[in-house]
Amino acid sequence: MALLRVGVLASGSGTNLQAILDSVHGFEAKVVGVASDKADAVALERARAAGVPASVFPLGAYPDRAARDAAIGDWLDAQGAELVVLAGYMAILTPGFIRRFPDKIINIHPSLLPAFPGLAAVQQAIDYGSKLFGATVHFVDEGVDTGAVILQSAIPLPPDADSAAALSLLRPIEHALLPDAIRLIAAGRLSRDPANPRRILITD
Ligand code: GRF
Repeated sequence: MALLRVGVLASGSGTNLQAILDSVHGFEAKVVGVASDKADAVALERARAAGVPASVFPLGAYPDRAARDAAIGDWLDAQGAELVVLAGYMAILTPGFIRRFPDKIINIHPSLLPAFPGLAAVQQAIDYGSKLFGATVHFVDEGVDTGAVILQSAIPLPPDADSAAALSLLRPIEHALLPDAIRLIAAGRLSRDPANPRRILITD
């Protein structure tokens, strides 16, 4: 069976990218390119180390965000990407990019959505006094962390944990969840409930 061709967007350390490279790349999927808005993203080094094409799209090189996103989209198309995975991509994608890849963009967010969307999600959970926190993989729509939920996983939030400690507890959860979602998509096991398109159904 042909491997699902995956393009990854990442802005930072790229540990989620690494989890994808280590666990699904070459098995159920093939990472065909990693793009970043940041030239110094460690994620780019991880891509190159794995022999995956990597490219930088700094905002300053384009007239506006829409033009930058169009360039990223053109590059992903040239790589033959069938799925776009946001793995710590910190720029908000413009509506034109979202519409270009309908139901083909997924994101990992470090909270149990719809709680704590946006930035500093783990700190938001701590400040709120949550007893549980977790990670969500969701389809990306034009809102901020509002797309349909694919997978979630929850763990206790220790009362004495600061944001860094809590995030380190969450890392292994994220690193399992995102590859799992890619595997489900590669296997064609996701669909939308016709009665409620917000609900993602997982078939056996
Ligand atoms: C992760 O916590 C992810 O949930 C969020 O950004 C972070 C990326 O970390 N969207 P890394 O770059 O994959 O290490």
